[in-house]
Amino acid sequence: MQNTLLITGGAGFIGSNFILEWFNKELESATTIVNVDALTYAGNLMNLLELAHHPLYRFEHADICEAEKMSALFEQYQPRAVVHFAAETHVDRSIVGPEAFLRTNVQGTFTLLQAAMKYWKALPAADRGLFRFLHVSTDEVYGSLGPEDPPFSETTPFQPNSPYSASKAASDHFVRSYYHTYGLPTLTTNCSNNYGPYHFPEKLIPLMIANALDEKPLPIYGDGKNVRDWLYVKDHCSAIRRVLAEGIVGETYNIGGCNELTNLQVVHTLCNILNTLAPRKRGSYEELITFVKDRPGHDRRYAINATKIERELGWKPAETFETGIRKTVQWYLDNRTWTDKVRNGSYRQWEALNYGQRA
Ligand code: NAD
Ligand code: TYD
Repeated sequence: MQNTLLITGGAGFIGSNFILEWFNKELESATTIVNVDALTYAGNLMNLLELAHHPLYRFEHADICEAEKMSALFEQYQPRAVVHFAAETHVDRSIVGPEAFLRTNVQGTFTLLQAAMKYWKALPAADRGLFRFLHVSTDEVYGSLGPEDPPFSETTPFQPNSPYSASKAASDHFVRSYYHTYGLPTLTTNCSNNYGPYHFPEKLIPLMIANALDEKPLPIYGDGKNVRDWLYVKDHCSAIRRVLAEGIVGETYNIGGCNELTNLQVVHTLCNILNTLAPRKRGSYEELITFVKDRPGHDRRYAINATKIERELGWKPAETFETGIRKTVQWYLDNRTWTDKVRNGSYRQWEALNYGQRA
């Protein structure tokens, strides 16, 4: 076994932040990072440009559904751990085209588990106890909360409501079963909504920033009172590093920011910051807010009880929503070419499809 992490989906939003943060924070570990990514519309090697010639970084253009390729990568790199981010992640896309979610999130995770297990079983006994398969999942598997319900804990029953969350729930169950049935040393994290640099502008926060700067409508689904618990992406990355280092195999850990906000509160906050940092020629950004047709099956509220990871692994977020969102808006203002480049032809098609039907 080598001092190597095999990261799937490392060219996406959280994966690329994780890899960049790893080289910032864990340099002394001299770990090699192998980024395995199919480069779907959501994957972007621009995010990792600064690592292109880093001696401890490798990129492998591969699809996690390809069994032989996955086995070959395990053989080649002999990783000490897998951190599995690769997924289809956008709820609205899962409503329009659920097949891709079944394929990557369920079939892909299964394929990766099979390849990991074959590799793990052949390891020397001493290494077998050290290997880890860390599966990155979402709080959306738990379903939707009422206004007075307690936040999701690790024992909250799964009640996924969208094809996205159903596919992630299925993948979580497969990971769990590989620990219980075969003893594969797995770890699972279920995290709330992330925000920060490199967030693809199909999701609420980067979409609202990009639209505002383009003087386009800010489309709020339904009444805008759906609640999400927002976590700055670098805090998610530090939580994953903690779980990888200290987590108990077979366990799941909820990760959250304790920042419950309605979508309208989030969008007003963004408008306020933009009004100061990049004022419009005339008027305020709030004037662009537009209510549009709701998302079918729209989960009302997510909230995370993150006391287990805090108590057992000593993790806490470093950013509040106020500090994290300021950094995020500033990043998008400083990196407008990044947003312009990722909003290519296929993005425009998606925009027309998703928002055209909500007019
Ligand atoms: P993302 O959509 O930004 O990136 C996904 C990455 O996976 C892309 O680089 C894409 O190219 C790659 N990918 C997709 N299909 C693939 C395949 N078949 N083979 C190989 N690579 C493939 O996603 P994200 O927001 O960074 O989310 C990463 C993980 O974290 C996902 O598993 C997601 O469910 C989970 N998660 C996300 C959030 C969030 O708020 N974004 C919150 C909790 C959990
Ligand atoms: P999103 O970023 O898609 O994350 P998720 O659905 O996985 O939580 O959406 C966050 C919230 O913002 C969700 O309640 C849906 C809402 N939303 C809008 O109101 N308008 C939009 O254009 C988008 C993309 C999302």
